[in-house]
Amino acid sequence: MEINCTERELFIFKKIAHAAEQLQVPCYVIGGFVRDKIIGRATKDADIMCVGDGIELAHKVSSLFHNNPPVAYFKNFGTAQIKLDDLEIEFVGARKESYRDNSRNPEVSPGNLEDDQLRRDFTINALAVSLNAADYGKIIDPFNGLNDINKKIIQTPLDPLQTFSDDPLRIMRAVRFASQLNFEIAPQTFEAIKKDAHRIKIISQERISEELNKILMSNKPSIGFDLLYKSGLLQIIFPQMVDLAGAEYIDGKGHKDNFYHTLQVVDNICENTNDLWLRWAAVLHDIAKPATKKFEKDHGWTFHGHEVVGARMVPKIFTKFKLPQNEKMRFVQKMVALHLRPISLTKENITDSAIRRLLFDAGDDIESLMMLCNADITSKNKQKVKRYLENFEIVRQRLIEVEEKDNIRNWQPPVTGEMIMEKFGLKPSRIVGDLKNAIREAILDGEIENTYEAAFQFMMEKATALNLTPVK
Ligand code: CTP
Repeated sequence: MEINCTERELFIFKKIAHAAEQLQVPCYVIGGFVRDKIIGRATKDADIMCVGDGIELAHKVSSLFHNNPPVAYFKNFGTAQIKLDDLEIEFVGARKESYRDNSRNPEVSPGNLEDDQLRRDFTINALAVSLNAADYGKIIDPFNGLNDINKKIIQTPLDPLQTFSDDPLRIMRAVRFASQLNFEIAPQTFEAIKKDAHRIKIISQERISEELNKILMSNKPSIGFDLLYKSGLLQIIFPQMVDLAGAEYIDGKGHKDNFYHTLQVVDNICENTNDLWLRWAAVLHDIAKPATKKFEKDHGWTFHGHEVVGARMVPKIFTKFKLPQNEKMRFVQKMVALHLRPISLTKENITDSAIRRLLFDAGDDIESLMMLCNADITSKNKQKVKRYLENFEIVRQRLIEVEEKDNIRNWQPPVTGEMIMEKFGLKPSRIVGDLKNAIREAILDGEIENTYEAAFQFMMEKATALNLTPVK
């Protein structure tokens, strides 16, 4: 076998080869599995292409295992799937595409190995490994995909315009692979992406978002986002992010390019987390800067309230991208809303009260918030960075101290609304809310301790001032 496989994979491929031989159909491992094995990336699924009926082959393969694993098949697409431990095997018959003069859409019909390799998206994805007796294990590489893997190049096997017209999602896939693999897109292929970028509009939002999430999950998403920007794709799929680009100058004063700043923050945070939603928070943390930008004579460029406006933009963006409208979205909103808080604390105002408020507002997401805040320090001014980082460390230390002392992170009111209503015979009303808030504020300000006794006594004093009398 000319690719490095595990014992288990080799065992499975032998079985598939055996089944194909019995059916007398040539068959191959093809696509992403071969690519990833050559690169040395982890693989979870393998595509098997046969010159014949993929569904029939899948059933034959299943019959050769004593537990006869179930075959999931889709007649319309001519594909079948078998799950074996943690490897998912997909079977498909070789296809060829022919273009009729009067249609942009190709007609798909059964073909041979070459036809099938030719209709694939990129040379690195068109590599096949034979499972046939005559040349078992041999790599079949008609488009120099191996060479492109060595040179780290993404390019199409055919004229890129033709490859993209078959499935315009491929223009996003090119960018996604460049970002995931840290490869370059060949100039001719990139030119075609620029030319065809507008055709992404015919692709469903779910598929676009899936690619975008894959870009965001790569080690250095800035590679992908920068390519999306330079190809014109980002303008179409995510114009709010493009609005961050560029710097304006007034009276010789400019502000930083918030697009490249955002990319830097995203790359920074990706060194420390694989949490897709925290990565999204990095993408969106400054999203409202263009909307809140002002030039003030005395202060220069300001973006007052961009964290608040930005948090409000999150649901709209999540809706557009068809991302979940649940606690994941609320987490991103919270991160955007709070992203300035830890760093805005300066030596003088790192009071216990400020720390308690930060812990109260961030709750269990405090570590994520600190991570985002740390990633947000991208200034080129070394002095400034040093000052920020020192300050940041003090905040970190104080967060630990205050949390140990006051337990604010998962704060539950020591005196609840129900207790207040019961004590004074009140129905749910504004006064109950006011009393609850007063207790919370007193605790956060450090006026009283975070205990039942202190809160109860404080409530009684407040109630007396409001002429409330206990009913028992
Ligand atoms: N393919 C294609 N055009 C597409 C999608 C897929 O030519 N629009 C081909 C490629 O040969 C690809 C194979 O189908 O390698 C399998 O596709 P898929 O599973 O989506 O991608 P992988 O290359 O396996 O990569 P990943 O699993 O990371 O998505």
